[in-house]
Order: sequence, then C-alpha cells, then structure tokens
Amino acid sequence: MTDIKEAVRQKYSQAALRAGSCCGTPALEGASPITSNLYSDQETGELPEAAVLASLGCGNPTALAELKEGETVLDLGSGGGIDVLLSARRVGPKGKAYGLDMTDEMLTLARENQKKAGAQNVEFLKGEIEQIPLPDSSVDVIISNCVINLSADKQQVLREAFRVFEARWSLRGFRRRHAWRGA
Ligand SMILES: C[S@@+](CC[C@H](N)C(=O)[O-])C[C@H]1O[C@@H](n2cnc3c(N)ncnc32)[C@H](O)[C@@H]1O
Repeated sequence: MTDIKEAVRQKYSQAALRAGSCCGTPALEGASPITSNLYSDQETGELPEAAVLASLGCGNPTALAELKEGETVLDLGSGGGIDVLLSARRVGPKGKAYGLDMTDEMLTLARENQKKAGAQNVEFLKGEIEQIPLPDSSVDVIISNCVINLSADKQQVLREAFRVFEARWSLRGFRRRHAWRGA
C-alpha cells in the first residue's frame, strides 16, 4: 500500500469509528456547508441514522444516475454505505448494489447499516478501486462520491471501471452510463 493510500485509509478508519460511536456523532467535525445537506429529507428518512451521519461524499450521485429496476450498481469507495443503500432501493429486489471499500472499519459500519436498513440486495466488498474484485462486464452502472480524487493512480481506476462494465457496452449501447462525483 502506498503512503498516500495508507494515510487515506487511516483517515477514513477514524471517521468510521467516530460515526459508529454513540450519540449521533457525525463522521467528520466541521463539515463544509457546501457539501452538507446533499440528500433530500425523503432519501435520508428512509435510511438508518448512522448511514446518514457517516456520509462523507461531496455530492449525491444517486440523484444524477438514472437507475432502473433489475440493474447492478457498483459504488467505488462506498464508506458507510449511504449511496449503496439508496441505489439498492432504486434497482429493487431483482437488482443488486455493490459497495467497494478498502477500509475495514468503514466496511463494518456499512454492513451494520445494511442490516439496520434490512437491505437484501446489497453486498459490501473489501478491496481497492484500482483493482476492483469483480469480473469483467459484471455491472450496469458505476457511481462514486469523492473517492477517485483520493487515488494516486486515477487512470488505473478508470481502466478497472471500464473493465467491469466494458463488454456489456456493446450489448446495451447507449444505455451504458455512469455518474461520477469528485472524479
Ligand atoms: C470521501 S469518503 C466517501 C464515502 C462514501 N462514498 C460517501 O459518500 O459517504 C471515501 C471512502 O473511500 C474509501 N477509499 C478511499 N480510497 C480508496 C481506494 N483506493 N480503494 C478503495 N476504497 C477507497 C475510504 O475508505 C472511504 O470510505
């Protein structure tokens, strides 16, 4: 693991522990007013409080991505799972939402949030966005919320992103789409 990656991992490990502690503590202190309140009351009302408090993104990719029932979505750097849980509702029981994160404490928090939300069509994977642990052509939509900017090798992240949905492009043509935030 590079020094940059290790520094990022440590920062988000602490944020996960903070968000998972008692008494409704937000993951980061002094969050920017520009990047707070990104989700509608309707969206946050459907989620466990801990998932909302653990939100660390700088946008709302699920507001941009056109998701359809039955689709498979992958969130690169899923943190506490807010965007995965929102996507899972949109793709429904025949669809699937994957969250990928390298930080153990974030994965623990995300899986607790999944349990609280009762989401069956969700899977959180441990791994790095530079080496996505999914087969070629296995996802329909990729979302990411302020994570690609953290990578020291963004070209590799994009290569991997295209690998996991590449072949379906030819089958489904213009329906291939993605929503990047903070790339
Ligand atoms: C800014 S937070 C965003 C979390 C989530 N997307 C959200 O909106 O709340 C960054 C997350 O990406 C993860 N992350 C950062 N770099 C990563 C990498 N190279 N591979 C996998 N996960 C990474 C961190 O562990 C952290 O959970």
